[in-house]
Amino acid sequence: MATKKSASKATKQITEADGEKLKELFVDGLKDIYWAEKNLAKALVKMAKNATSDELKSAFELHTTQTEEQIKTVEQVFEIIGEKAQAKKCAAMEGLIEEANEIIESTDKGTMVRDCGLIMAAQKVEHYEIASYGTLRNVARTLGYEDAATLLQQTLDQEGETDHILTGLAEGYVNEQASVEQ
Ligand SMILES: [Fe+2]
Repeated sequence: MATKKSASKATKQITEADGEKLKELFVDGLKDIYWAEKNLAKALVKMAKNATSDELKSAFELHTTQTEEQIKTVEQVFEIIGEKAQAKKCAAMEGLIEEANEIIESTDKGTMVRDCGLIMAAQKVEHYEIASYGTLRNVARTLGYEDAATLLQQTLDQEGETDHILTGLAEGYVNEQASVEQ
């Protein structure tokens, strides 16, 4: 009996009022990630400049270009849903960028220890973005914005690939070389 009750609750029809609240949450989430991407694009330039290995530099440079495209993608999503593109300060991304800056300040220039730290900071960023885009894609689908969901999925895939590349660098040589540094 209890199963039947919870099942009917789960399939409860979405009312118009529910949809409005969910759209508000969706728009808020878009504003958040819009701010995050814009600020990350600048932070990545600094991270690339401070990376020790050419491979990590290249990875950060590639992701800077991708991030610039992602900013435009978020703008497209705003357009699809009929909202003005607006950024709202994302406290989480601000903190994650601050962590990356702290890594640069606390490690020596030209060391693999610095690269190890920068990879850690960048992967924290990617995981935050993966969580954000995953939720936004799902909510877009729920609200019936299929085209927006497809765009958000594309960005989500790109963030996943970046995370994978960073893991590859860490496991490939960065951590090992960092371990023998004095
Ligand atoms: Fe991104």
